[in-house]
Amino acid sequence: MTTTPADTPIVPAVDFLKVTEQAAIASARWLGRGDNNAADGAAVDAMREEFGKLPISGTVVIGEGEKDEAPELYVGESLGTGGMPCEIAVDPLEGTDLVARGDAGAISICVVGAPGGIMSAPDMYMRKICVGASAKGRINIDDPMEATLDVLARCYDRRIRDLTVVVLDRPRHGKLIEEIRAAGARIRLIPDGDITASMSVGVRGTGDHLYVGIGGSTEGVITAAALECLGGEIQAKMWPRTDEETSKLADFGITDLDTNFGHAELAPKPYYVIATGVTDGNLLQGVRYFADGARTHSIVMDLMSNTVQFIDTVHLFSRTIIREIRL
Ligand code: FBP
Repeated sequence: MTTTPADTPIVPAVDFLKVTEQAAIASARWLGRGDNNAADGAAVDAMREEFGKLPISGTVVIGEGEKDEAPELYVGESLGTGGMPCEIAVDPLEGTDLVARGDAGAISICVVGAPGGIMSAPDMYMRKICVGASAKGRINIDDPMEATLDVLARCYDRRIRDLTVVVLDRPRHGKLIEEIRAAGARIRLIPDGDITASMSVGVRGTGDHLYVGIGGSTEGVITAAALECLGGEIQAKMWPRTDEETSKLADFGITDLDTNFGHAELAPKPYYVIATGVTDGNLLQGVRYFADGARTHSIVMDLMSNTVQFIDTVHLFSRTIIREIRL
């Protein structure tokens, strides 16, 4: 049997699948109902309940906030019934507004890593650039957009005009969008959800080739773990907006704002990254409900066994009423 360094049995990646599946099923009920807090709360409750059943000694390093701000899944919270020591980063509902509006691209995601394997980043903005395996090692966050797109075009063996760049639709990205347009690439502006977008860039066939822009730092850490599993790359720089944020960074030992964070700093030792679609996206389908159950679509990325699984699950809510299962 495979064991962790502490000699406790490994909990396989698929055992964590219920954590994101149940969070997705609970939060997708709030689709289009205009209540992001309810959608997020449903995901958090379901996720926490499922973590509580697992034979792990987990510690949340990225969660819903600090202990005094978040009653559940707060940073430092212990999860599990005891067993495999691990660190956990969660975004129970990535894209709360997306669900509230009934928009595409919301997911539920968790990262399980070795102790010390996931950076506990202060929650603020971060400038990021993400590519898939084809362009790994070929980009630099400080390069002008035109140069980056030129490199990317060569990596994907196509012209710049046939590349799609995903950018969060925010006023702060005005200049960036102008630069991408000037270079001639296509842009997919998204209302929210830069983890989803970066994962989409990390998988060939989604039609997305580059994610760039400023988004959440905790999302950046989760993205780093996911792209590590997918063979892609993230480069990131902290983007504090106030003196308070700058001194918060200093508390975390980050004083040089020009530091380029990559996988080695953000997620040096992830074991698994698991995500389930809440609403439809380029990579994952959203939750579909039927009379006595629901269907979910997930990705299970496992660095212990070097596998990436796409899992389509039919969840039956009752043993007594089972209608035909559809293909
Ligand atoms: P939430 O699901 O926590 O609302 O985050 C959505 C998101 O779009 C992230 O994907 C992204 O990193 C961040 O918000 C961007 O922040 P802002 O909305 O402040 O621009």
